[in-house]
Amino acid sequence: MVARVVPVAPFDLVVFGGTGDLARRKLLPALYYRDLAGQLPDDARIIGVARSDLSADAYRERAVEALKSFIPAADLKDACVKRFIGRISYVRVDVSSTDGWDALAALLKGREDRVRAFYLALEPRFFGPICERLKASGIVTPTSRVVVEKPLGDQLASYRALNAQLTHAFDEHHLYRIDHYLGKETVQNLMALRFANALFEPLWNARHIDHVQITVAESVGVEGRGAYYDHAGALRDMVQNHLLQLLCLTAMEPPGKFDPDDVRNEKLKVLRALEPIDGSNVESHAVRGQYAGRNGAAGYIEDVGANDSTTETFVALKVNIANWRWSGTPFYVRTGKRLRSRLSEIAVIFKDVPHSIFPAAAGAVRENALIIRLQPHEGITLLMNIKDPGPGGMRLIEAPLDMTFASSLGIKGLRMPDAYERLVMDVIRGDPTLFMRGDEVEAAWAWIDPILAAWETGHRRPQLYDAGSSGPEDALRLMHMDGRRWLEIEA
Ligand code: BG6
Repeated sequence: MVARVVPVAPFDLVVFGGTGDLARRKLLPALYYRDLAGQLPDDARIIGVARSDLSADAYRERAVEALKSFIPAADLKDACVKRFIGRISYVRVDVSSTDGWDALAALLKGREDRVRAFYLALEPRFFGPICERLKASGIVTPTSRVVVEKPLGDQLASYRALNAQLTHAFDEHHLYRIDHYLGKETVQNLMALRFANALFEPLWNARHIDHVQITVAESVGVEGRGAYYDHAGALRDMVQNHLLQLLCLTAMEPPGKFDPDDVRNEKLKVLRALEPIDGSNVESHAVRGQYAGRNGAAGYIEDVGANDSTTETFVALKVNIANWRWSGTPFYVRTGKRLRSRLSEIAVIFKDVPHSIFPAAAGAVRENALIIRLQPHEGITLLMNIKDPGPGGMRLIEAPLDMTFASSLGIKGLRMPDAYERLVMDVIRGDPTLFMRGDEVEAAWAWIDPILAAWETGHRRPQLYDAGSSGPEDALRLMHMDGRRWLEIEA
């Protein structure tokens, strides 16, 4: 089965931070793959912008190096690499001064009817100055798009200040705030599962669902990002954005249409319905942990070289949603680094049958669970009770109804597109459905701030957990207190 590819309109994509990590690791490879798939029209250009004094050829060489580093050799087809590189140019711009802006304007001149997108792939402190200069340089067309990515502030106040800079220069409909989790295949499939099937929606509420578990476990540590991470921690780095977005998509009401504002309005309502976690309940609703070294592997303290760091590398929260659909059904979310394996999934655990007709000898009737796996092995599994096959009488066993997309759809061996491929093409198409609106980010910070404040004023340090484990003991306790348990973290 081959995915259907609809070419996008001709565009100029200007990547500020064109020599940086995000451009090299994610954007150039994503654009290359879209070119390989035939989605880029002949008249699609990529303009790298950075402070380095490079010729366009030197930048193209760097782009080729990036492709070689982050794309398997088998996918690098000479003809496509050549075509792709031919789309790339480079302009040296000092974003904190007026240097280089005229050259950028000259390169864009006469192409005002093409889609124009400015991707700010650099530190947020540059967002405001760049937006102002973009406006001042006259290169912004009525349909231009500006793409930004986290960290969008480190608390509500700093987010508001950053957002004010963006919205001072651009209207909301120009702004595309990326949360790359929204570009993941299975995250979009969650919406298809819920709203394109009549099967689940009638059961999708507190009457039938006991609880929901959202896990984003990573096996890697901070990977050279210690300076950023030690200030951020897992709550800001993962929960404020990715995990809350997953929670919103799982919990939201059906939008009237699959339309950017309809979807985002529903997510916003969920964020606004989250019960606060603050100094009054942080002990019973939030757990933070920090990985310790094991078997010679470094712990977090050694990784970041800060002996007294109280930064959390693991968070587990019990989240209640105060609305008719979810009242009484908690959402437990957890995320952490250096855990047993890399696994992201949403598990919807249904309530027990009201009464079991089977004798004790048949074994326990387990709750049904619907598991939506984001990575690895994207797919959906429904855990059911069935009769153990064979003679031996009525014995119940749990069996998975398994739809791993790669095998069920006959696309084994086919690469799942990276989230950035989808999201960058959505920017070009002008579809912000999978991007966060300003009020969503604001509502997420408004909910996160009291947790941060409670941790700052509390005396408890993050609980240590062994690298390679499932997280700290207290996370297990969070569930045990409610008579529940986490699913195993196993890939
Ligand atoms: C990023 C975080 O947003 O998401 C990283 O800053 C984290 O710390 C990453 O490793 C996880 O993304 P993925 O797509 O690998 O699950």
